[in-house]
Amino acid sequence: MAQDTHVLDAPPAGAAADWTIAQDWDRYTPEEHATWDTLFARQAALLPGRASNAYLRGLDVLKLSKPGIPDFAELSERLMGLTGWQVIAVPGLVPDDVFFDHMANRRFVAGNFIRRPDQLDYIQEPDVFHDVFGHVPMLADPVFADYLEAYGKGGQRALSMDALKYLGRLYWYTVEFGLIAEPEGLRIYGSGIVSSFAETRFALDDPSPNRIAFDLARVMRTEYRIDDFQQNYFVIPSFDDLLRATVETDFAPLYAELKTQPDIPVAAIEPADVLLTRGTQAYAAERTRA
Ligand code: PHE
Ligand code: FE
Repeated sequence: MAQDTHVLDAPPAGAAADWTIAQDWDRYTPEEHATWDTLFARQAALLPGRASNAYLRGLDVLKLSKPGIPDFAELSERLMGLTGWQVIAVPGLVPDDVFFDHMANRRFVAGNFIRRPDQLDYIQEPDVFHDVFGHVPMLADPVFADYLEAYGKGGQRALSMDALKYLGRLYWYTVEFGLIAEPEGLRIYGSGIVSSFAETRFALDDPSPNRIAFDLARVMRTEYRIDDFQQNYFVIPSFDDLLRATVETDFAPLYAELKTQPDIPVAAIEPADVLLTRGTQAYAAERTRA
């Protein structure tokens, strides 16, 4: 998932100064590999026709269907040949500046632990299934690979401008929970969706959420919840458009402007929104009553 609040100030024992650790692939137990295989089989059956072409292509070219938790060294070698990205292991959430520095240098940080068998549907901290199955296939796409590197550099800038709140929302509504309009129909590409059995269907098929055309400033004003399905999803026309809209915009004046405007609540619709689907909000109403 995106960055969170509770991180340590210094790398824990055993971690390097840049917070990386060895993946220790040999230490995974048969049960842990089996958890990966269970999660993989469930998602792989669901994603054709639902995940973006870029995501499905990544899954294929990276050979993620090979049984067991992927070996980061092997994965990095494939990825390096395709887009110059690597996958490196970290003990959990890392500080923002560390996260951005790795990303700006095409190193994707991934947790090396896997969820317990009783946590197949939900975990609070990103594990290797979310990080690798959810994020890494998109890194095999050259345009998305450029987007994430630019995001890392943008993160370093945002830190210096006290604007992480806005940039973090861009990550949330694209990298984690993004939708794309492909010629064949709406597709998911956000890692938080593609790695979730329930949200994969909710994001695309449920009548409850709004699906709104992506607008950079609008997204950056929008609050988000980390513990439930999204009520607003934002839809990009293509990865090229996303890259252009973000790389060709100087965020400094945008941040200054955003600081004068109110945040937009999670389920709200704005007058300027272009709605692809107006949601019933039935799911949200149900949750409020419960
Ligand atoms: N253009 C952004 C800036 O000026 C950097 C950025 C690019 C951020 C792509 C996110 C994604 O800060
Ligand atoms: Fe994530």
